[in-house]
Amino acid sequence: MTTPRTAARTAPIPSDAPAPAAPAAPRGRFLSLEGIDGAGKSSHVESIEAHLRAHGLAVTRTREPGGTPLAEQLRELFLHRPMDALTEALLVFAARRDHVAQVIAPALARQATVLCDRFTDATFAYQGGGRGFDVTVLAHLQDWVQQGLQPDLTLWFDLPAAIAAERRSAARTPDRFEHQDMAFFERVSSAYRARAEAEPQRFARIHAQASPRAVAAQVAAVLESRGW
Ligand SMILES: Nc1ncnc2c1ncn2[C@@H]1O[C@H](COP(=O)(O)OP(=O)(O)O)[C@@H](O)[C@H]1O
Ligand SMILES: [Mg+2]
Repeated sequence: MTTPRTAARTAPIPSDAPAPAAPAAPRGRFLSLEGIDGAGKSSHVESIEAHLRAHGLAVTRTREPGGTPLAEQLRELFLHRPMDALTEALLVFAARRDHVAQVIAPALARQATVLCDRFTDATFAYQGGGRGFDVTVLAHLQDWVQQGLQPDLTLWFDLPAAIAAERRSAARTPDRFEHQDMAFFERVSSAYRARAEAEPQRFARIHAQASPRAVAAQVAAVLESRGW
Protein backbone atom coordinates (compact mmCIF):
# COMPACT_ATOMS: atom_id res chain seq x y z
CA MET A 1 0.00 0.00 0.00
CA THR A 2 1.29 3.46 -0.90
CA THR A 3 1.51 5.78 2.08
CA PRO A 4 1.43 9.57 1.94
CA ARG A 5 4.74 11.40 1.53
CA THR A 6 5.94 13.54 4.42
CA ALA A 7 5.63 16.76 2.40
CA ALA A 8 2.00 15.99 1.64
CA ARG A 9 1.28 15.25 5.27
CA THR A 10 2.50 18.57 6.51
CA ALA A 11 0.82 20.64 3.78
CA PRO A 12 -2.31 22.61 4.75
CA ILE A 13 -5.56 20.76 4.14
CA PRO A 14 -7.45 22.47 1.30
CA SER A 15 -10.98 23.01 2.51
CA ASP A 16 -13.70 25.57 2.93
CA ALA A 17 -14.04 24.50 6.54
CA PRO A 18 -11.64 25.84 9.18
CA ALA A 19 -8.67 23.52 9.55
CA PRO A 20 -8.44 21.84 12.96
CA ALA A 21 -6.17 24.19 14.82
CA ALA A 22 -2.93 23.01 16.32
CA PRO A 23 -3.69 23.47 20.00
CA ALA A 24 -2.95 27.10 20.81
CA ALA A 25 -2.39 27.83 24.48
CA PRO A 26 -4.43 28.33 26.49
CA ARG A 27 -7.12 25.98 25.35
CA GLY A 28 -9.71 23.87 27.12
CA ARG A 29 -8.90 20.29 28.05
CA PHE A 30 -9.90 17.19 26.17
CA LEU A 31 -11.06 14.03 27.96
CA SER A 32 -11.84 10.83 26.05
CA LEU A 33 -13.47 7.58 27.14
CA GLU A 34 -12.26 4.32 25.64
CA GLY A 35 -12.77 0.58 25.97
CA ILE A 36 -14.45 -2.31 24.17
CA ASP A 37 -18.18 -2.37 23.50
CA GLY A 38 -20.05 -3.03 26.73
CA ALA A 39 -17.25 -1.80 29.02
CA GLY A 40 -19.44 0.92 30.55
CA LYS A 41 -18.31 4.15 28.85
CA SER A 42 -21.76 5.47 27.98
CA SER A 43 -23.15 4.47 31.38
CA HIS A 44 -20.66 6.80 33.07
CA VAL A 45 -20.50 9.71 30.68
CA GLU A 46 -23.28 11.63 32.40
CA SER A 47 -21.76 11.40 35.87
CA ILE A 48 -18.37 12.42 34.44
CA GLU A 49 -19.98 15.46 32.85
CA ALA A 50 -21.65 16.28 36.18
CA HIS A 51 -18.30 15.96 37.99
CA LEU A 52 -16.65 18.37 35.55
CA ARG A 53 -19.52 20.86 35.74
CA ALA A 54 -19.40 20.70 39.54
CA HIS A 55 -15.80 21.89 39.21
CA GLY A 56 -16.99 24.94 37.31
CA LEU A 57 -16.02 23.72 33.85
CA ALA A 58 -18.06 24.40 30.71
CA VAL A 59 -18.42 20.97 29.10
CA THR A 60 -18.95 20.00 25.48
CA ARG A 61 -20.08 16.38 25.58
CA THR A 62 -19.83 14.47 22.34
CA ARG A 63 -19.07 11.05 20.84
CA GLU A 64 -17.33 9.22 18.02
CA PRO A 65 -17.94 8.21 15.40
CA GLY A 66 -20.35 11.12 15.21
CA GLY A 67 -20.75 14.42 16.99
CA THR A 68 -21.90 16.43 13.94
CA PRO A 69 -24.85 15.84 11.59
CA LEU A 70 -22.50 14.66 8.84
CA ALA A 71 -20.41 12.48 11.14
CA GLU A 72 -23.55 10.91 12.63
CA GLN A 73 -24.60 9.91 9.10
CA LEU A 74 -21.16 8.42 8.50
CA ARG A 75 -21.53 6.60 11.84
CA GLU A 76 -24.65 4.86 10.58
CA LEU A 77 -22.79 3.61 7.51
CA PHE A 78 -19.74 2.66 9.58
CA LEU A 79 -21.72 0.65 12.11
CA HIS A 80 -24.18 -1.04 9.77
CA ARG A 81 -22.88 -1.39 6.18
CA PRO A 82 -20.37 -4.05 5.16
CA MET A 83 -17.02 -2.59 4.03
CA ASP A 84 -13.34 -3.43 4.04
CA ALA A 85 -10.86 -2.21 6.63
CA LEU A 86 -9.44 0.63 4.51
CA THR A 87 -12.93 1.99 3.81
CA GLU A 88 -13.64 1.71 7.52
CA ALA A 89 -10.52 3.69 8.37
CA LEU A 90 -11.21 6.39 5.76
CA LEU A 91 -14.82 6.72 6.83
CA VAL A 92 -14.04 7.04 10.52
CA PHE A 93 -11.33 9.63 9.88
CA ALA A 94 -13.66 11.54 7.52
CA ALA A 95 -16.20 11.67 10.34
CA ARG A 96 -13.43 12.69 12.76
CA ARG A 97 -12.24 15.45 10.46
CA ASP A 98 -15.71 17.01 10.45
CA HIS A 99 -16.08 16.50 14.21
CA VAL A 100 -12.72 18.04 15.07
CA ALA A 101 -13.21 20.99 12.71
CA GLN A 102 -16.81 21.74 13.63
CA VAL A 103 -17.02 20.83 17.32
CA ILE A 104 -13.85 19.83 19.17
CA ALA A 105 -11.37 22.48 18.02
CA PRO A 106 -13.86 25.36 18.41
CA ALA A 107 -14.85 24.14 21.90
CA LEU A 108 -11.22 23.88 23.01
CA ALA A 109 -10.52 27.32 21.53
CA ARG A 110 -13.24 28.86 23.71
CA GLN A 111 -11.69 26.97 26.67
CA ALA A 112 -14.52 24.51 27.11
CA THR A 113 -13.73 21.02 28.38
CA VAL A 114 -14.43 18.42 25.71
CA LEU A 115 -15.76 15.06 26.92
CA CYS A 116 -15.80 12.54 24.10
CA ASP A 117 -17.15 8.96 24.20
CA ARG A 118 -14.40 7.32 22.08
CA PHE A 119 -11.74 9.04 19.95
CA THR A 120 -8.76 7.93 17.86
CA ASP A 121 -7.51 5.28 20.29
CA ALA A 122 -10.63 3.36 19.26
CA THR A 123 -9.50 3.47 15.62
CA PHE A 124 -6.10 2.06 16.54
CA ALA A 125 -7.76 -0.56 18.76
CA TYR A 126 -10.58 -1.66 16.40
CA GLN A 127 -9.21 -1.09 12.89
CA GLY A 128 -5.57 -1.63 13.93
CA GLY A 129 -5.86 -4.30 16.64
CA GLY A 130 -9.21 -5.87 15.79
CA ARG A 131 -9.03 -5.83 11.98
CA GLY A 132 -5.24 -5.99 11.74
CA PHE A 133 -5.16 -2.91 9.50
CA ASP A 134 -1.81 -1.14 8.92
CA VAL A 135 -1.29 1.21 11.88
CA THR A 136 1.23 3.28 9.91
CA VAL A 137 -1.59 4.30 7.59
CA LEU A 138 -3.79 5.07 10.61
CA ALA A 139 -1.00 7.24 12.01
CA HIS A 140 -0.79 9.18 8.71
CA LEU A 141 -4.54 9.73 8.70
CA GLN A 142 -4.33 10.83 12.32
CA ASP A 143 -1.64 13.41 11.43
CA TRP A 144 -3.73 14.81 8.60
CA VAL A 145 -6.95 14.99 10.51
CA GLN A 146 -5.78 15.97 13.97
CA GLN A 147 -2.61 17.97 13.27
CA GLY A 148 -1.24 17.14 16.69
CA LEU A 149 -4.51 17.29 18.62
CA GLN A 150 -4.75 14.53 21.25
CA PRO A 151 -6.86 14.04 24.37
CA ASP A 152 -5.21 15.30 27.57
CA LEU A 153 -6.67 12.39 29.53
CA THR A 154 -8.13 9.09 28.37
CA LEU A 155 -10.16 6.93 30.73
CA TRP A 156 -9.72 3.35 29.56
CA PHE A 157 -12.60 1.15 30.76
CA ASP A 158 -10.85 -2.21 30.93
CA LEU A 159 -13.22 -5.18 31.03
CA PRO A 160 -12.60 -8.82 30.01
CA ALA A 161 -14.12 -9.49 26.59
CA ALA A 162 -16.38 -12.29 27.86
CA ILE A 163 -17.98 -10.08 30.52
CA ALA A 164 -18.44 -7.24 28.04
CA ALA A 165 -20.20 -9.69 25.69
CA GLU A 166 -22.55 -10.78 28.50
CA ARG A 167 -23.39 -7.18 29.32
CA ARG A 168 -24.06 -6.37 25.67
CA SER A 169 -26.23 -9.36 25.03
CA ALA A 170 -28.38 -8.44 28.03
CA ALA A 171 -28.76 -4.89 26.83
CA ARG A 172 -28.90 -4.33 23.08
CA THR A 173 -29.03 -5.39 19.45
CA PRO A 174 -25.46 -5.77 18.18
CA ASP A 175 -24.02 -3.50 15.48
CA ARG A 176 -21.44 -4.64 12.89
CA PHE A 177 -18.58 -4.59 15.45
CA GLU A 178 -20.56 -6.06 18.31
CA HIS A 179 -21.22 -9.10 16.08
CA GLN A 180 -17.50 -9.89 16.08
CA ASP A 181 -16.23 -12.94 17.98
CA MET A 182 -14.36 -13.04 21.27
CA ALA A 183 -10.96 -13.22 19.54
CA PHE A 184 -11.69 -9.89 17.83
CA PHE A 185 -12.45 -8.21 21.15
CA GLU A 186 -9.37 -9.79 22.74
CA ARG A 187 -7.27 -8.16 20.01
CA VAL A 188 -9.03 -4.83 20.53
CA SER A 189 -8.39 -5.08 24.28
CA SER A 190 -4.73 -5.91 23.74
CA ALA A 191 -4.35 -2.90 21.48
CA TYR A 192 -5.92 -0.65 24.13
CA ARG A 193 -3.60 -2.15 26.75
CA ALA A 194 -0.53 -1.54 24.60
CA ARG A 195 -1.54 2.07 24.00
CA ALA A 196 -2.23 2.65 27.70
CA GLU A 197 1.17 1.21 28.60
CA ALA A 198 2.90 3.34 25.97
CA GLU A 199 1.32 6.58 27.24
CA PRO A 200 0.74 6.20 30.98
CA GLN A 201 0.65 9.97 31.48
CA ARG A 202 -2.37 10.26 29.18
CA PHE A 203 -4.22 7.04 30.00
CA ALA A 204 -5.88 6.05 33.26
CA ARG A 205 -7.10 2.47 33.55
CA ILE A 206 -10.53 1.96 35.08
CA HIS A 207 -11.25 -1.52 36.43
CA ALA A 208 -14.62 -1.76 34.76
CA GLN A 209 -15.55 -5.15 36.20
CA ALA A 210 -16.54 -3.50 39.49
CA SER A 211 -20.09 -2.44 40.32
CA PRO A 212 -21.37 0.75 38.65
CA ARG A 213 -20.99 2.58 41.95
CA ALA A 214 -17.38 1.38 42.39
CA VAL A 215 -16.54 2.27 38.78
CA ALA A 216 -17.96 5.77 39.32
CA ALA A 217 -15.82 6.10 42.46
CA GLN A 218 -12.68 5.06 40.55
CA VAL A 219 -13.44 7.58 37.82
CA ALA A 220 -13.98 10.36 40.35
CA ALA A 221 -10.72 9.46 42.11
CA VAL A 222 -8.77 9.54 38.83
CA LEU A 223 -10.27 12.89 37.85
CA GLU A 224 -9.39 14.36 41.25
CA SER A 225 -5.87 12.94 41.31
CA ARG A 226 -5.17 14.21 37.79
CA GLY A 227 -6.40 17.69 38.57
CA TRP A 228 -9.78 17.61 36.83
N1 LIG B 1 -20.20 -1.61 36.27
C1 LIG B 1 -21.18 -2.27 35.65
N2 LIG B 1 -21.65 -3.43 36.13
C2 LIG B 1 -22.63 -4.08 35.49
N3 LIG B 1 -23.21 -3.68 34.35
C3 LIG B 1 -22.78 -2.52 33.82
C4 LIG B 1 -21.75 -1.75 34.43
N4 LIG B 1 -21.49 -0.65 33.67
C5 LIG B 1 -22.36 -0.74 32.63
N5 LIG B 1 -23.12 -1.84 32.72
C6 LIG B 1 -24.15 -2.28 31.76
O1 LIG B 1 -23.44 -2.84 30.66
C7 LIG B 1 -24.08 -2.50 29.44
C8 LIG B 1 -23.07 -1.81 28.53
O2 LIG B 1 -22.70 -0.57 29.10
P1 LIG B 1 -22.42 0.71 28.18
O3 LIG B 1 -22.23 1.87 29.10
O4 LIG B 1 -23.44 0.83 27.10
O5 LIG B 1 -21.01 0.28 27.54
P2 LIG B 1 -20.19 0.99 26.38
O6 LIG B 1 -20.74 2.38 26.21
O7 LIG B 1 -18.79 0.98 26.88
O8 LIG B 1 -20.37 0.12 25.17
C9 LIG B 1 -25.27 -1.62 29.81
O9 LIG B 1 -26.41 -2.43 29.82
C10 LIG B 1 -24.94 -1.13 31.18
O10 LIG B 1 -26.11 -0.90 31.94
MG1 LIG C 1 -21.41 3.30 24.45
